[in-house]
Amino acid sequence: MSTKDRLLGYLKECKGDWVSGELLSRRIGITRSAIWKNISKLREEGYVIESSPRKGYSLSRISEMLLPNEIREGLDTGVFGRGEIIHFRETDSTNARAKELAIQGAPEGTLIVSESQTKGRGRKGRSWFSPSEAGIYASLILRPNMPPNEAPRITFVTAVSAAETLLALTSLEVAIKWPNDILVKNRKIAGILTEISAEMDTIDYMVVGLGMNVNNPLLPDDIEEKATSIFIETGKRFPKVRIVREYLRRQEKYYRILRDSGFEPILRRWKELTNTIGKRIVVEMIGKRYTGVVQDVDQEGVLILKDEKGAFHRILSGDVTFM
Ligand code: BTN
Repeated sequence: MSTKDRLLGYLKECKGDWVSGELLSRRIGITRSAIWKNISKLREEGYVIESSPRKGYSLSRISEMLLPNEIREGLDTGVFGRGEIIHFRETDSTNARAKELAIQGAPEGTLIVSESQTKGRGRKGRSWFSPSEAGIYASLILRPNMPPNEAPRITFVTAVSAAETLLALTSLEVAIKWPNDILVKNRKIAGILTEISAEMDTIDYMVVGLGMNVNNPLLPDDIEEKATSIFIETGKRFPKVRIVREYLRRQEKYYRILRDSGFEPILRRWKELTNTIGKRIVVEMIGKRYTGVVQDVDQEGVLILKDEKGAFHRILSGDVTFM
């Protein structure tokens, strides 16, 4: 463990009480000026540490950043987030970084997080609003042993995990809009972008990107009507690290259920969480547009729509708008 981490551990043990520089230097076994240097490093990482010439130091707030050590603390997964967690202050897209690492052989469960993204990607070539100090931008590398045509199942796993995370940690009314938008009061709070690299019959790797609006006090005009954040809904900032831990836990749980028991239990849970079945919708696909009522989502995750003329359509992927 690094000197900085030992110092942080000790300050955490003191639970906000003051501790003198002299005591710290004895406990950690470094000079007082080395203590000062490490305190400065911790402050740069976002920890709020008070200092007083008489009393010493006191940790008054932990960092709000998604620092690997903070994510790991109390994380009870077996694989996800257990190996490498790579943290950026800023990157173009965590999915892009994850793909690079996956190509280099990074194992399943490797997690990439960033405080902001300059080219956050959404579904269908759209961009994902990714300002600093507001959202969660996280990409997980998976190497599922399944044929490429089953890859959408992982998106259902992720939608269930993200929705359950918000239900467990907040009092928000959360629903999944087919296939994988997470909504609160019909406004989008989180989105999932799954990207795969596959051979004809096997998946090489998969990158599951989750974007969630957490502490955004405001959203830009073009998405304000359609999107929301935890802060907008509750008026309170929420620790992003708790969300990431809970999400990893649930993502691993449902990923294992999918592997061991198949898609049926995932779809069952997804159906309990969706608000799409029975709704009148417009669904837009490349070059096509249907209006009708959603009858069901079948055992492959395909949306079954009955249009105004009574004809049924199987929709594999598209953009849904409620009417
Ligand atoms: C959507 O369009 O609903 C999907 C949005 C997915 C955004 C996340 S943020 C982390 C990861 N990196 C990206 O560039 N995109 C995904």
